Amino acid sequence: MIKQVDNGMLGAKLDLRRWLIQRVLEEGKGLHVLDCCAGDRVLWKRLEREWKPDSYVGLDIKRKPAPVLKADSVRWLRSMPLKATLVDVDTYGEPWKHWRTLLRANWTHDRIGVCLTMGNGGKAMGALGNAALKALGIPTTWRKRLPPACDARREAAVDACMYLAVELGCTVLDTREAGGANRWTRYIAVMLERRG
Ligand SMILES: C[S@@+](CC[C@H](N)C(=O)[O-])C[C@H]1O[C@@H](n2cnc3c(N)ncnc32)[C@H](O)[C@@H]1O
Repeated sequence: MIKQVDNGMLGAKLDLRRWLIQRVLEEGKGLHVLDCCAGDRVLWKRLEREWKPDSYVGLDIKRKPAPVLKADSVRWLRSMPLKATLVDVDTYGEPWKHWRTLLRANWTHDRIGVCLTMGNGGKAMGALGNAALKALGIPTTWRKRLPPACDARREAAVDACMYLAVELGCTVLDTREAGGANRWTRYIAVMLERRG
């Protein structure tokens, strides 16, 4: 059984967010953070010592100490206007539901930064879930015919993620990947602009 570690690769995850914060601040709309998978706020407690966000909303599906609110952030993104300039999606597994939902959300700002942890937790380590297969145009019924772990498919998943943004009306202005990501998890930061 593979143990889930909430903040493996801490240094790389922090550096990626530092880059994205700077990039978001360049836009001049302030630092308004929506932390979709706040957990114990290991990342944002550290980052808040370096930058004071203009606003911070932290959500977790599990009960966590304040200021984190107990909520499913996919449902939140579906039902609330997106006022954030930086959205952090540090899931255990795949961020596809968050990604698709936030791309369709009602944005307050034309440009937002997004951090994605693209992992494949659990038993099917390295396999792609239904949402990723759909985005890649692979019928989910083919799952059993596909090898469980495959670097090419993980690469394709990142590409599909970007194509989905373009398909849903965004321009990808800038991207970064955290160095030294492990074999199963990739850490990506993206600066997006909503077209017209
Ligand atoms: C890798 S941990 C996050 C660690 C966190 N970023 C930190 O700095 O401490 C993933 C967290 O995401 C939460 N989570 C997963 N899916 C969620 C969802 N749909 N809505 C809200 N929280 C979710 C889990 O409960 C877990 O606490």
